[in-house]
Amino acid sequence: VTISDDNARVAALLPTGESVEVLLFGATVLSWKDAAGDEKLWLSEASKLDGSKGVRGGIPIVFPLFGPPNADHPATSKLPQHGFARTARWEYLGKSTSEGSSSSVKLDFGLSSENLDDATRAAWPYKFGLLYSVTLDRESLNTTLVISNQGDESFDLQTLLHTYFRVKDITSVRISGFEDSSYVDKVDGAKAKTEASAPVTFSGEADRVYTPAKGPGHPVIVSDDGQPRFRIVRDNLDQVVIWNPWADKAEGMSDFVPKSGYKNMVCVEAGSVKGWQKLDKSDTFEAAQTIFLS
Ligand code: BG6
Repeated sequence: VTISDDNARVAALLPTGESVEVLLFGATVLSWKDAAGDEKLWLSEASKLDGSKGVRGGIPIVFPLFGPPNADHPATSKLPQHGFARTARWEYLGKSTSEGSSSSVKLDFGLSSENLDDATRAAWPYKFGLLYSVTLDRESLNTTLVISNQGDESFDLQTLLHTYFRVKDITSVRISGFEDSSYVDKVDGAKAKTEASAPVTFSGEADRVYTPAKGPGHPVIVSDDGQPRFRIVRDNLDQVVIWNPWADKAEGMSDFVPKSGYKNMVCVEAGSVKGWQKLDKSDTFEAAQTIFLS
């Protein structure tokens, strides 16, 4: 296992060739490659990597709110869309490894109230700690987030792992795991619907928040070009957001390059975003996803 820490990124390489790279801004996983060097995540060529904006690709972390701020929830109404965790600079806390036939590496990152700038602390004045662990082994990538309330006041949270998967051709992508599940269709006026056609396919912009009927233990499977490619298993993340901006919305995003890139990506985002999780003093909320290569 090799760790290179140039104060901006942390990269780990297994002896068998698999690798992962994490940007300290947002503790954003930027790259995940298999032993053959094939990239599994999509990353825009124009992504901001300096914390001025969330990364357009990889796995940004959404916390403590999902989506745009809303006056209906005053505690998060002064925060930017998807919160501050994806732009704040995290601390690299170290690695642990296991060698041998089942070699793996775990990288730990931390963010707490003390790491935030004054403006963010004023907008969201709670004392919190985030511990994020990225574990790479030969077959999978696990990302685990532990959120703790380190202050005296309770706070509400939403969180989500905004994974951008790299695919060969969006029109051949099929996503299963949403059979008979209810969802909110943000492209169609936030209407509540129930998934009848399984699996999910793409022929235009998609922005949907699913609550999979079978629960988080039931995998969501992303197939591409007739092959199952990714199997996502969730822990404590009851929703899955499916997002593809398609041609027009990609055109309108300055950090989305190349513009045709929407054909090669699909966001499948495991999260806890329906309502709010209330975290009392000294409580923790632990959530994770494991992505297996199928
Ligand atoms: C998705 C949302 O999670 O993120 C979309 O459901 C949103 O509505 C997308 O457009 C990208 O958000 P952002 O803030 O990274 O441009």
